[in-house]
Amino acid sequence: MSLTRGGSKVCDGTCRTVEIEMSESSTTRHCDVVEYRVGGKAHYDAASYDRIRYIGPQNEYKQTVMANAYMRLIRPLAGKRMLDVGCGTGRGVVEFARESHLAIGCDASLDMLGFAARKAKDIPSCGLIASNAGHLPFQDAAFDVVASLNFLHLFNIDSQRFLVAEMKRVLKPGGTLVLEFTNALNGAAVGLFRKWVGSQPGVLSFPHEIRSVLGENCRVVRVYGAPFPTVWRFFYRFPKLFQNVEKLGYISPFKWFCQRLYYLVKKDHGPL
Ligand SMILES: C[S@@+](CC[C@H](N)C(=O)[O-])C[C@H]1O[C@@H](n2cnc3c(N)ncnc32)[C@H](O)[C@@H]1O
Repeated sequence: MSLTRGGSKVCDGTCRTVEIEMSESSTTRHCDVVEYRVGGKAHYDAASYDRIRYIGPQNEYKQTVMANAYMRLIRPLAGKRMLDVGCGTGRGVVEFARESHLAIGCDASLDMLGFAARKAKDIPSCGLIASNAGHLPFQDAAFDVVASLNFLHLFNIDSQRFLVAEMKRVLKPGGTLVLEFTNALNGAAVGLFRKWVGSQPGVLSFPHEIRSVLGENCRVVRVYGAPFPTVWRFFYRFPKLFQNVEKLGYISPFKWFCQRLYYLVKKDHGPL
């Protein structure tokens, strides 16, 4: 696997160069990078990233509940070309590649991409590329589906708006965008309190802020919430039962109190 900076080449799991239209334009604005690297502090350490978030029964429960929600919005992927923006260690892009024609993960951190590359090595439909999400090295309308998981909350609302516009640029008209946001109404008072005192790492978004981030020339098709706040600390002990109960987070009003919100957005057919 080779990883290139600046968008000159995309390599798949077996290091074949795959065909995708790339843009070399330098006119697009870059966005700040939130640095994740091996040896980074606390949850910015790439080496312990997966262990802290995805390994162990509690994490696995939460991860399954969240994956159930976003996969339901993203599918079907068969025959599609998709992009995972801020793919990190690859938990999303590797799974998407198993179902799609081609899934490309992009991320600013070579350390994070290194971990993703190990997971992708036997999956020829998976490509990884180092790039700033504010300047995606692809031509307009290159993808059928663009997803971004656990990423946008790292940025303020203005930057989120700019990043989503760039995601929409590389999405085909009529294409699907699936975005994860951290919900300011999480647990009702809990999220509001955290937003007020600023104790939550990352940006908590209200639904009207999310709508402003999505911008024009697209429509929200569906919103799911996952997981329910706090109760997952008990729910994970009986995962089979409670993974089904968590599906209540797909409907109103329950979704508006979940920790994360997943937006399924369709890009309009007209020009952006
Ligand atoms: C919280 S991690 C999420 C990774 C993955 N999506 C997941 O759900 O596990 C955020 C990722 O965003 C990447 N990142 C931060 N700023 C970026 C930028 N401006 N452009 C591209 N990637 C960026 C980081 O390197 C990191 O891998």
